[in-house]
Amino acid sequence: MTDRTTESAPDEKPKLKEYEGEGITVTFEPRRCLHAAECVHGLPEVFDLSRRPWVLPDAAEAGLVAEVVRRCPSGALRYHPADGSVEHPDIPTTVRRTPSGQLVMRGGLLVTGAYGDRPEARVVLCGCGASGNQPYCDHSGPCAEPDDDVPGRR
Ligand code: SF4
Ligand code: FES
Repeated sequence: MTDRTTESAPDEKPKLKEYEGEGITVTFEPRRCLHAAECVHGLPEVFDLSRRPWVLPDAAEAGLVAEVVRRCPSGALRYHPADGSVEHPDIPTTVRRTPSGQLVMRGGLLVTGAYGDRPEARVVLCGCGASGNQPYCDHSGPCAEPDDDVPGRR
């Protein structure tokens, strides 16, 4: 198990942390995490914010880890099974707009932004224009209000 941080030049690649396990590798893109806590509630033995590293992919069966990663609405978490399989996006693709304008999307997506065209299966896009991590929501705008119907809280 390793905990590597990939530092990249601006506008080239997103900064990802990689947590490598025997059966599955989990990557984490901190700027996209909207703290929905699906991960820590879903598999606390794997995802534990009080621990370093906070992700231990070998602490549960790889299929279970993948299932919980797929619950991450923002796509901050992704997984790469050791057998080379890939995440199958939801069919049909779904889009939900929250009251503050976030676009919560799941499906076979190609998101264009500062890092070029990125294939995605789960994203929360900014609809208010305030995010500093466009096109993704970063909870800078009205979506941060506690009474909004957003996928997760700071
Ligand atoms: S946005 Fe994803 S990584 Fe962040 S807390 Fe929620 S489920 Fe976990
Ligand atoms: S909708 Fe969340 S920052 Fe814009």
